[in-house]
Amino acid sequence: PAIQGEEEAVLTYAPNVPPAITRKHATKVIVRLETNEVVKKLADDVEYTFWTFGGEVPGKFIRVREGDLVEFHLSNHPDSKMPHNIDLHAVTGPGGGATSSFTVPGHTSTFSFQALNPGLYVYHCATAPVGMHIANGMYGLILVEPVEGLPAVDREYYVMQSEFYTQGEYGAPGLQPFSMDKALSETPDYVVFNGSVGAMAEDKAITANTGETVRLYVGNGGPNLVSSFHVIGEIFDNVFTEGGTAINHNVQTTLVPAGGSAIVDMKLEVPGTFIIVDHSIFRAFNKGALGMLKVKGEENLLVYSGKQSDAVYLPEGGAIQQVGGLAPGPRIAQNTEERIHFGERIYKQNCLACHQEAGQGVENAFPPLAQSDYLNASIRKSIEAVKNGLTGKIKVNGKTYNGVMPALGLSNEDIANVLTYIYHSWGNNKSVVKPSDVAAVKK
Ligand code: HEM
Ligand code: CU
Repeated sequence: PAIQGEEEAVLTYAPNVPPAITRKHATKVIVRLETNEVVKKLADDVEYTFWTFGGEVPGKFIRVREGDLVEFHLSNHPDSKMPHNIDLHAVTGPGGGATSSFTVPGHTSTFSFQALNPGLYVYHCATAPVGMHIANGMYGLILVEPVEGLPAVDREYYVMQSEFYTQGEYGAPGLQPFSMDKALSETPDYVVFNGSVGAMAEDKAITANTGETVRLYVGNGGPNLVSSFHVIGEIFDNVFTEGGTAINHNVQTTLVPAGGSAIVDMKLEVPGTFIIVDHSIFRAFNKGALGMLKVKGEENLLVYSGKQSDAVYLPEGGAIQQVGGLAPGPRIAQNTEERIHFGERIYKQNCLACHQEAGQGVENAFPPLAQSDYLNASIRKSIEAVKNGLTGKIKVNGKTYNGVMPALGLSNEDIANVLTYIYHSWGNNKSVVKPSDVAAVKK
């Protein structure tokens, strides 16, 4: 079939996807993409020099139709320090376009290709050192719609996983340089969706309504890890496995290879927040690979009842458990204000799950830290509890608790910070705890 007419491609930033193609013929599609190098947020207090296609990670989403002739214009911003090129996995030809698109700063390269195979494809920079260009953020997705189109859905989103290898540990503040050693050993500090920790969570969550179908175009930029892509509390009704044509049904977790993709569709029956993760689960809860799909609408209590009762369950025995290494590397506070500030984060990561958001605890299970007479009576005993764990009967504000608090394996600095935060919160007595106080308590 002949190629008729010409149009400029609509490109979008994640999590948005360009509109579906309604044309019934092939056309010439002009794609203009710019590479540039920008300093942006990787996590709270953490910055990184990203190398990008279009100024964001992941790069802009490109959408064409099977049979289209794509005229590609790759520009490299004059402020760039590096040359860049592009390898699109949708291209049939040497280097996937890389051999024709090597572009030095302040130049534009042009080449064209015909999109022969339908599917969802990764594109990435392939300039040496290739691994470093990808590790710094140079990847995105191009969808080649089949001539017959894709099954209609209500909403579509763009989700791309990737890892970052930084000199500092996860959470270490400041502008973090790339670590070649960690990249070579494939031990990233960060695994994220859409370029940074939290890029698709809380107020940046993707959204839908009950009764709607949602399609995620999922890519994995790597550079190294394979993703076990999963949405907690949902089942994928359709998976276009590896971004190809075969459709699998009723899938819980789908593999997305480095440099590969998947298209997943799900119908949303009930409202709530559905957590999107790489089910290699430490990546989700400790390295950032966590997004959210927030669904609004009517409850369907037949499909999901919600909690029907909560009765106290007290098994016998129980011993102090060791939970190591939950905290990011210690941050050294210079004054009380910093102690409180750093301590808040440690509280949220290590204590909130049991002692709750406002330190109110949970009845018959976890004692309160808010206006706790136990806490306010003795700094030493509080340090002991956090440093060594706590078990056996204790009385807090007139109520007896007989539970188990694990020793969390925090550093002296972190314990001092978290306790100082607690003492300065929720009506407590504003004591300041120093690392030396923590060191003085026996392990
Ligand atoms: C008791 C602090 C994490 C479960 C206590 C107490 C303190 C404390 C000061 C003494 C009682 C009171 O004042 O209310 C902390 C801090 C934490 C932390 C600073 C984080 C660094 C946790 C976690 C759990 C937990 C994660 C649950 C897995 C308990 C329990 C007790 C307790 C069950 C009572 C122990 C007993 O009955 O002997 N905690 N806690 N705590 N905590 Fe935590
Ligand atoms: Cu590059």
